[in-house]
Amino acid sequence: MRLVLVGPPGAGKGTQAEFIAAHLSVPKISTGDIFRANVTQGTPLGVEAKRYMDAGKLVPDDVTINMVRDRLAEPDAGEGFLLDGFPRTTPQAAELDKLLADLGSALDLVLELVVDDDEVIRRLSGRRTCRGCGKIWHVEFDAPSREDVCDRCGAELFQRDDDKPETIAARLREYSEKTAPLVDYYGAQGKLVGIDAAGPVEDVTVRAIDALRSYG
Ligand code: AP5
Ligand code: ZN
Repeated sequence: MRLVLVGPPGAGKGTQAEFIAAHLSVPKISTGDIFRANVTQGTPLGVEAKRYMDAGKLVPDDVTINMVRDRLAEPDAGEGFLLDGFPRTTPQAAELDKLLADLGSALDLVLELVVDDDEVIRRLSGRRTCRGCGKIWHVEFDAPSREDVCDRCGAELFQRDDDKPETIAARLREYSEKTAPLVDYYGAQGKLVGIDAAGPVEDVTVRAIDALRSYG
């Protein structure tokens, strides 16, 4: 299955992507994770992307599209994938459609996680991420037994640089200006399914899997 997860920052895309990708046995491809790995490694791509990420802005389309094109060409993405955080603009969506059409395939479904801004702010301000295994925690909603250590792998937990209040506000603005129009784009293709992303993580996962079942 070829699936896209869309939703505002902090909607729970990364959290749900892990479960859904495992359920579907497809790789999870997160552009945010790829950018962050490049930032950590200090690659030229990472240096360029960091300027935008720190400001809560989207990385330019051409840079992002080239990166995704390379990733989708890897063998593990041949039979399906779950895209988390891409596409995020109408040009990215159009480019993805074109790229897949050239390969003789197409997206099956776009799952939109619907959640309000207040909840997003609560989720992002308490988020902690593991440096070792990448597991996403929350100090209140999915709390590790020690605030700075991952219970799953023992590595250190960190707070993302872009989870500062002023950067969160900028990311929400970028979302409503540039990403929200994708709802119409995919709605017109008949591929969009919105699910309520409020409530406990497990409940959202059940809604997501149900949505896949009814459309798959
Ligand atoms: P990216 O990493 O994609 O960030 P984002 O879209 O802002 O989304 P987040 O990762 O912040 O949130 P999420 O929805 O995954 O929520 P999570 O599961 O972590 O992108 C970062 C930056 O990279 C962008 O700003 C941009 O600069 C650049 N970029 C990336 N892709 C790009 C693209 N395509 N084009 C251009 N630029 C791009 O959950 C959040 C918290 O809530 C966690 O603590 C979690 O534990 C908790 N939580 C999750 N679900 C629940 C629940 N049901 N109840 C309670 N708590 C919950
Ligand atoms: Zn870990």
